[in-house]
Amino acid sequence: MAKIGIVGAGQMGSGIAQTAAQAGHDVLLSDVELALAAAAKDRIGKGLARLVAKEKIAQADADATLARITPVGDYAPMAEAAFVIEAATEREDIKFRIFETVGKVLSGEAILASNTSSIPITRMANHAPDAGRFIGIHFFNPVPVMKLVEIIPGLATAPATLAATRSFVEGLGKEVVQSEDEPGFVVNRILVPMINEAIFVLGAGTASIADIDKGCRLGLNHPMGPLELADFVGLDTVLEIVRVLHSTTGDSKYRPAPLLLKYVEAGWYGRKSGRGFYDYSGDEPVPTR
Ligand code: 3HC
Repeated sequence: MAKIGIVGAGQMGSGIAQTAAQAGHDVLLSDVELALAAAAKDRIGKGLARLVAKEKIAQADADATLARITPVGDYAPMAEAAFVIEAATEREDIKFRIFETVGKVLSGEAILASNTSSIPITRMANHAPDAGRFIGIHFFNPVPVMKLVEIIPGLATAPATLAATRSFVEGLGKEVVQSEDEPGFVVNRILVPMINEAIFVLGAGTASIADIDKGCRLGLNHPMGPLELADFVGLDTVLEIVRVLHSTTGDSKYRPAPLLLKYVEAGWYGRKSGRGFYDYSGDEPVPTR
């Protein structure tokens, strides 16, 4: 089993950390402060305790998984990592700085990967120590539950990097879809315009939040409607992806829905901020329109 470094201990980074540790890897989990990484480990522990209570996993496995996760406050320990996966905020400037900083400590064999949801891999590879050992690994939320991982080689990604990444991801028990380095890759190129369109539909007053979501849940058999899902992913993240699709293709069909912009400007990011299309302050989410 390998040592895996994860940069960013938010919902995606924590989910990747849990999944890698459950597969037997030792995980170094970092964030801008050690306290944030430690808090993420606590949240993972609580999630594992719920799985134990539901008799999905044994207490001993939960303990062993948690023991494999080490919160770290700087990148120095990642010198021993075989894979470092960046799962930070979906902003180029932040990601570039991480690649440049963590790149200084990486070993000559280590693979550096980004869990970006839409930023071009080839563009980011320019900020990595070696573009041949740089690749996109796109997980889906909630990571421990979702079976899919997209793998995206950039223009300069070496065949050996691609092969090692596929074998690492399959070892996590995930199914792989390989995508060319095109805007939104495969799944977000399809999903995010659908979410954006649902927000246009809401903005046009065609139906209520509850009915738009009910329509897609019952009419399409989606587990969540598009507005619930937008809240779940984070409206700020959805907007970032829409903007990448819009700016990289120059196609006006990807322009952000005005209501999406407004919600993000209001700080209504969805579940993580307590309010998005739904209000999460009570026991059950309540539609806000
Ligand atoms: N670790 C392990 N298992 C977990 C878990 C965790 N952290 N969280 C939940 N689970 C398990 C539960 O134990 C449960 O297992 P069971 O069915 O065997 O009992 C199962 O997952 C379902 O959990 P819940 O019963 O708590 O909740 P729901 O049945 O309501 O399902 C959901 C929740 C899985 C989130 C479901 O609503 C769903 O699939 N939603 C759509 C998710 C989706 O589309 N994700 C992709 C988003 S797009 C993306 O991530 C890309 C990005 O780039 C934008």
